[in-house]
Amino acid sequence: MIPFKKYIQDIKPYEPGKPIKELQREYGIRNVVKLASNENPLGRPSTAAMRAVRKAISEIHLYPEGSCHYLLEKLSREIDIPKEQIIFGNGSNEIIELVARGFLSEGDEVISSEMSFLVYPILTQVCGGCYKAVPMTKDYRYDLDGILGQITPKTKLIFIANPNNPTGTYVTAGEIEAFLAKVPPHVVVCMDEAYVDFVEAGDFPRMLNYVREGHSNVVVFRTFSKAYGLAGLRVGYAVASKEVIGYLHKVRQPFNVNSVAQAAAAAVIEDKFFLWKTKWLVKSGRKYFYKKFKKLGLEYLPSQANFILVNVKTDGGEVFRELLKSGMIVRAMGAYKLPEWIRVTIGRRGQNALLVRLLKSYLNKEPFQD
Ligand SMILES: Cc1ncc(COP(=O)(O)O)c(C=O)c1O
Repeated sequence: MIPFKKYIQDIKPYEPGKPIKELQREYGIRNVVKLASNENPLGRPSTAAMRAVRKAISEIHLYPEGSCHYLLEKLSREIDIPKEQIIFGNGSNEIIELVARGFLSEGDEVISSEMSFLVYPILTQVCGGCYKAVPMTKDYRYDLDGILGQITPKTKLIFIANPNNPTGTYVTAGEIEAFLAKVPPHVVVCMDEAYVDFVEAGDFPRMLNYVREGHSNVVVFRTFSKAYGLAGLRVGYAVASKEVIGYLHKVRQPFNVNSVAQAAAAAVIEDKFFLWKTKWLVKSGRKYFYKKFKKLGLEYLPSQANFILVNVKTDGGEVFRELLKSGMIVRAMGAYKLPEWIRVTIGRRGQNALLVRLLKSYLNKEPFQD
C-alpha cells in the first residue's frame, strides 16, 4: 500500500489563473489580455532587471548564492531592517510554506479569514494542520475580533493578507494595534503584504515597525511578484525577529532562490522609475474602474491593491467564460463562495477600457463595439 496521507489526499489543489499561452492554444485567439493574476500592469519587466538577468545567465552552470548575499544587502538597506531579520523564498508562496512547515505539527490550528489567499488553507493541510476560516465582516474585511475568539492553546499561526486578496480591503493601524495586544505570545501572526506597494490609505499599518520594535511573534511577508514585476522569477521574503528568521533558515532548502531571480530582484530595487510608473498606473486604473463600474450600476469593493472585486449580478463563472472567448482573462470567485463576483486585475489603459466594453456588451446584451 502506498502510504498516502488522508489529509493530503483531501486537498483541493490551487487553480491558478489561466496562462496567456494556454488560452491562445485552446481558443486559437492571438490577442489575449490577462487581468487575472494580479501581475504588474506595465506589461513588461523592468529594463534594469532584464539587463541583470542577461548578465546572470552566463553563470547558470553554478549554484546560486545560498545566502542571497547581494540581494540581502540591498534589501536590508532599502527597507532599513538588519540582514539577520530577512529571509528570501521562491516567491512569498515559499515563505508561507516555510512558516507552515516550521511551526505546524499534525492537529495544530491556523486561523485566517474565509475569503483570503487560497494557499493558506492548502499549506496548512499539507502539514496536517486544522484551518479555521473566520467569516468576514459585512463590508468584506477581516473580522479580527472573530479571529481572536477562535484562538486556542493549539493555535500556532494567524494569516492576515493586508491588503487582502481577493477583496482588496484592509485592516487599519488602529485595528492591528488593538489586535496584537490581545494575541497570546504562542501564536505567530503572519502579515502578508504582497500588495503593500499599491496602498494609498493613510491609516494602513506600518508592520515593519512592529518587527523593529521587537514584536517577536510578528512575521511580515512581501514579494517581488506584483509591483516589482518579477512574478515569473519567483522571489519573496519575510521580515521578523532574528530568532524567527534563523529558525526559518533551518527549514528552507540550501539554494531556494535561483541566481537569475536574485540578480533581477537586486536590480529592480534600484529601478525607482519602474515602481513609480507601476503605482501610478494602478492608482489611475482603480479610479477608472470605479467610475465605469458605477456607471454600469455594478457594486465593487474599494481596493488598496492592484485588483478590484466587482459584483456582476449574474453568474460570475458564466461571465468569466464569456470574456475568455473574447481573449479576456479575469478571475471567477466561485472558490470563495462569491458566485456573482469577479476579480479584475488593473491593467494598462487600453486593457481596462476593453474589459469595460466587453462587460457592458455582455451584461446589457448589446453588440460589442470595438
Ligand atoms: C495575498 C498573497 N500572498 C502571496 C501571494 C504569492 O505571491 P508570490 O508567491 O508570487 O510571491 C499572492 C499571489 O497572488 C497573494 O495574493
